[in-house]
Amino acid sequence: MPWDLVKLNDGRSMPSIAYGTWTLGNGQSAVDQVDQALSVGFDHVDTAQSYRNEQEAGQALKESGLARSDIFVTTKWSGQADIPTSIRNSVGNLGISYVDLYLVHSPRLAVPDIPTTWKQMEQVVKDGLAKSIGISNFNVEQMQELLNSANIKPVANQILFHPYVYAQQKPILDFASQHGIIIEAYSLLIPLTHQPGGPLDKPLSSIASRLDVSPDQVLMAWAKAKGVVVVTTSSKESRLKGYLAAGDLKLTSDDIDAIDEAGAAGARRLTAKTLLRRAAGLALLTAGALAVCSYLGIDVL
Ligand SMILES: NC(=O)c1ccc[n+]([C@@H]2O[C@H](COP(=O)([O-])OP(=O)(O)OC[C@H]3O[C@@H](n4cnc5c(N)ncnc54)[C@H](OP(=O)(O)O)[C@@H]3O)[C@@H](O)[C@H]2O)c1
Repeated sequence: MPWDLVKLNDGRSMPSIAYGTWTLGNGQSAVDQVDQALSVGFDHVDTAQSYRNEQEAGQALKESGLARSDIFVTTKWSGQADIPTSIRNSVGNLGISYVDLYLVHSPRLAVPDIPTTWKQMEQVVKDGLAKSIGISNFNVEQMQELLNSANIKPVANQILFHPYVYAQQKPILDFASQHGIIIEAYSLLIPLTHQPGGPLDKPLSSIASRLDVSPDQVLMAWAKAKGVVVVTTSSKESRLKGYLAAGDLKLTSDDIDAIDEAGAAGARRLTAKTLLRRAAGLALLTAGALAVCSYLGIDVL
């Protein structure tokens, strides 16, 4: 088994790689893409109220002929309606009687506060509409606030996770691990899709050629080595098969160190770039303000 099941703190288990539907859009093509993922062997589908394609995911689940118990379904409360209404709509859209995991999509949705929101999430479990509940995009302080009042612990926190943000996210991983909360990693492939040309390119391509695999597979293996559950996607069957095969890859500790170091260097480079961009913006604003003052005859010096 390339990607094992991970044990959750409520005694249930979750497949450690998921197929995400965020970018699939709607209609038949979305159904076909989920269908393709299920056909190659994904058994964990990650969707959300705000992705607006729960219905398409549900149709693909139904057409797959898979038993409900053979598939792990995650959806998220994204704030389009209150929690009791949203979960009922979501299971209705998905055409199932319960979801395996229901997440609070963002701490920003927790109004008036995290404890009040979490009470409503706990009620979802009591009502039998979700087997497990969790969170997404919560930082350490927000996780602590939740735990202070929780009767049911969140089983997972789904967060942005790739080598360029690894050091920044590490305190969340450490806190989650102390409290038995699984980290789910989204947008793991950003170093390839949105930030190519950085310090990671070299180690990723050299490890990939040594192991005769692709750089995305190396990133998957790195994430697996960090103990996180991967939430990813692809429109291509070959890539999906590659993701699943990456569960068998073994990186050496030198490989992992090289990726960590390049990730940290990239983060420093990105921070410097942001600072430069901000300084340039500030200079432009100042020049504009001085020009307006001079036009109006205001002496600012
Ligand atoms: N909780 C949250 O707030 C949150 C936020 C974002 C995402 N998510 C979840 O995470 C899932 C995945 O998010 P994501 O799309 O950002 O994930 P990702 O795994 O970082 O990226 C997947 C994309 O990478 C492309 N790709 C794969 N290998 C590549 C390569 N070697 N070169 C260039 N492109 C490559 C794929 O394109 P092809 O289609 O061309 O293969 C695919 O579109 C979402 O669907 C959603 O379920 C959750």
